[in-house]
Amino acid sequence: MKILLTGGTGYIGSHTAIELINAGHDVEILDNLYNSKASVINKIAKITGIKPKFHQIDLLDNKKLDRLFKKSSLDAVIHFAGYKAVGESVEKPLKYYKNNVYGTISLLESMQKHNVNKIIFSSSATVYGTQEIVKYSEKMQTGAGITNPYSQTKYVIEQILKDLTIANPDFEAMTLRYFNPIGAHSSGLIGEDPNDIPNNLMPIIMKVAMGEIPELSVYGDDYDTPDGTPMRDYIHVVDLAKGHLSALNKIRPGFLAYNLGTGKATSVLEMIKAFEKASGKPLPHKITSRRPGDLAKFYADPSKAKKELGWHAELTIEDAMRDTLNYLANFR
Ligand SMILES: NC(=O)c1ccc[n+]([C@@H]2O[C@H](COP(=O)([O-])OP(=O)(O)OC[C@H]3O[C@@H](n4cnc5c(N)ncnc54)[C@H](O)[C@@H]3O)[C@@H](O)[C@H]2O)c1
Repeated sequence: MKILLTGGTGYIGSHTAIELINAGHDVEILDNLYNSKASVINKIAKITGIKPKFHQIDLLDNKKLDRLFKKSSLDAVIHFAGYKAVGESVEKPLKYYKNNVYGTISLLESMQKHNVNKIIFSSSATVYGTQEIVKYSEKMQTGAGITNPYSQTKYVIEQILKDLTIANPDFEAMTLRYFNPIGAHSSGLIGEDPNDIPNNLMPIIMKVAMGEIPELSVYGDDYDTPDGTPMRDYIHVVDLAKGHLSALNKIRPGFLAYNLGTGKATSVLEMIKAFEKASGKPLPHKITSRRPGDLAKFYADPSKAKKELGWHAELTIEDAMRDTLNYLANFR
């Protein structure tokens, strides 16, 4: 298939580009380079032997987007492009709604105009909001108790996609709800840029390891978890990337949602220990007070993706730590 990856020079998009190219798909990448570098394209080429076509376009630029669709005869779109810093979204909600929601509408309009009927969307486990049950299944309600504008944009985009499949029964939309992506490609060439700090644990661990931050703050050790620190479902980015390949193989008319997670929860202290074990060095950290809005624990029920997409996560936290260290060694 000829597939357009919006946000394809970003962290998850670039790893997905590699898996798709290796599986024989024809990949084109669109990105405005807001949070990534054009040099990623050459790294993808180095890893796969094939250089994907790159379009430096902003999704909000309807005219350029339209021209691309007219030229490219695409079969499907995987839509990664968006802003993702939860904290910033609380301070600048309009920036997030404009880029994420309007950017998606602009993309969908071009898709409709040029009869591209398949889209896979990068959603997030945060669409489940705040729930009593911490093992999130796709059967659960979404949208209630969402704590920030970033996650609201994911929820709203899912609703738009659902409505489109109702209006057009031929439309094929799959939303993939990612849990917590970590790790890097085993080549050490691509990974998450540690200079981009959203609110995530791993980029901060990387910064501490590089000596750019003196110590890691652990926000609270009085949660209802075995060691008192919050627990999340960390998924290796290469497993996540492979999930998109499985999704593409199974996409069909209608709206479908899948969790992409491992089904296991790991605490902040366990993550620190795993990093220390992989690097052989202590990682300076201190316990501070809780951060508003943090949940004690949640993780994926990944059984639907296993049953219907034939996909499950295979790599471990140890694999992710090893690959992160390998990437960091190249990054310096
Ligand atoms: N990384 C995570 O923890 C996580 C978790 C759940 C969901 N997601 C979602 O997955 C997707 C990819 O995440 P990522 O970690 O690879 O982020 P990323 O920031 O590395 O990649 C996103 C890419 O989109 C591009 N972009 C942003 N706005 C654009 C626009 N208007 N036009 C064109 N390009 C634009 C950025 O330049 C960047 O390269 C995002 O939608 C994100 O919200 C990420």
